[in-house]
Amino acid sequence: MPKELIVITKMVTARDEDQQPKMALCSSYSVNFTAATSPSCNRNKPSTSSRNQIFNTSGSPSSKSWIPCLSVQLNQRFSRTRFRKSKAAPCMLVVASGEKGEPLRVMISGAPASGKGTQCELITEKYDLVHVAAGDLLRAEIAAGSKNGKLAKEYMEKGQLVPNEIVVMMVKNRLSQQDSQEKGWLLDGYPRSASQANALKGFGFDPDIFILLEVPEDILVERVVGRRLDPVTGKIYHLKYSPPETEEIAARLTQRFDDTEEKVKLRLVTHNTNVEDVLSIYGDVTLRVDGSLPKHEVFSQIDSALAKLLEQKLAPSGSVST
Ligand code: AP5
Repeated sequence: MPKELIVITKMVTARDEDQQPKMALCSSYSVNFTAATSPSCNRNKPSTSSRNQIFNTSGSPSSKSWIPCLSVQLNQRFSRTRFRKSKAAPCMLVVASGEKGEPLRVMISGAPASGKGTQCELITEKYDLVHVAAGDLLRAEIAAGSKNGKLAKEYMEKGQLVPNEIVVMMVKNRLSQQDSQEKGWLLDGYPRSASQANALKGFGFDPDIFILLEVPEDILVERVVGRRLDPVTGKIYHLKYSPPETEEIAARLTQRFDDTEEKVKLRLVTHNTNVEDVLSIYGDVTLRVDGSLPKHEVFSQIDSALAKLLEQKLAPSGSVST
């Protein structure tokens, strides 16, 4: 009979580039036993100490990986119970459940070419959120030749905001889908006005964090003009700052129709006109990040904030019920 159980109530894993679990962030509590009791009867009468723990799964597998063992039904909530015997303390069992914490809801904003898409690639790689980019949804409508796409292109060519009648429902529908609800979402380039923010609020979509990338205008123009996209992988390149890895990729890169110096200046005017209105709505959850730094330094600041948020979400909301 163990003297103590560590019960992990929530677990979120972060993955490395090969999609292997790199880190597991857990919320847990320990349950201490007396000699004549069993785990099932102590689930609801624990002597507990709550804690949050981060397990690095990339280290030595013998000390850190979970080993499936007997299946003991502690409680119906713990349907995927797995045990590991601790070598350091043979009387301790560690229990993990597959229950997930509430997913992250992230908005990322900034001027044209401030690096929103680039950071979204890094964020989704690590946090596995559903990336919803308003600009990409609009470009998909254009590519499909739909009525909305044709209308949207007229506005995009002028660097203006596409009317709310098209954008709002498009974003709302994507956020409502099951994957966004289950995995959490990363909303890129929306909202761009107070009315868009209020519409989203009305549908019940509130962010945990609103990231604003701040970049001086002269840098933005250089970034837009040098940007290229890989139509096969969707990856964003820059001829100077993130050049393509191979000749084959370089040969197939494309440029966006609105990526000219003339058009980016119009897009900038639109951004500058609206940004303060949006910030006034999300002021309490806004994180301003210097987007002129190299992309991995920008990501490091965002990553710290998201890791902290996840930890807060996983923290036990109160004492364990008795
Ligand atoms: P959208 O597609 O969202 O364009 P945008 O806001 O102008 O932003 P970009 O996609 O141009 O830039 P980004 O910030 O993603 O930068 P990226 O990472 O690619 O919108 C297009 C249009 O659609 C709008 O103008 C509007 O008409 C319409 N629209 C969209 N949303 C709307 C909405 N909500 N309502 C109404 N209309 C809407 O990086 C740019 C370049 O810089 C790349 O080459 C990259 O490699 C490089 N780079 C990135 N980070 C760094 C770094 N740290 N250091 C060096 N280089 C970097």
